[in-house]
Amino acid sequence: MKKSNNLVLIGFMGVGKGTVGRELAKALNKFAIDGDDMIESFANKKIKAIFQEDGEEVFREIEKNLAKFLSSSVSNAIISTGGGFYKVKGLEKIGTIIYLKSSFEAILTRINASPNASKKLTKRPLLQDLEKAKTLHKEREKGYESKADITVNVEGKTPKQIVKEIKKQLKIAKFK
Ligand code: S3P
Repeated sequence: MKKSNNLVLIGFMGVGKGTVGRELAKALNKFAIDGDDMIESFANKKIKAIFQEDGEEVFREIEKNLAKFLSSSVSNAIISTGGGFYKVKGLEKIGTIIYLKSSFEAILTRINASPNASKKLTKRPLLQDLEKAKTLHKEREKGYESKADITVNVEGKTPKQIVKEIKKQLKIAKFK
């Protein structure tokens, strides 16, 4: 476990980082923090609006500032991050990195099974073109893997099962 004691969830859009983060926080009796929610309150607008009005570059700059804030000022929390956050400098300083891994097809199945599927799709600027999103998923897979302290395959698993797997892997990782 890193000094800051945070657990940081990374992985592709729609994989369930927010849901698993809240479930994990409950299981470990810690606070759950959502990085994208923090960006929205910082910018005082939705992520979709940041992309549309200011551009992706501005969004990525805010992500970098968020990373600095989290590593200097947050400890003992479960932090869910946006799908591109894994690229920020100093990610490893924020905490122990947990990669939630899934195929692109299983992510789409998960989103489509949700009661608010269309909201989940429309709020994500980089999920508007599914062919492009599939390519992005392929491009990022190795990157996620290389940043991860532990990797959990989440396909077909419930949030509770995923939390169980994370706890098991964290115990193993401690003795490595
Ligand atoms: C992004 C993922 C989104 C959000 C933004 C960019 C990405 O978060 O941060 O739209 O680059 O993958 P989710 O992973 O929660 O969808």
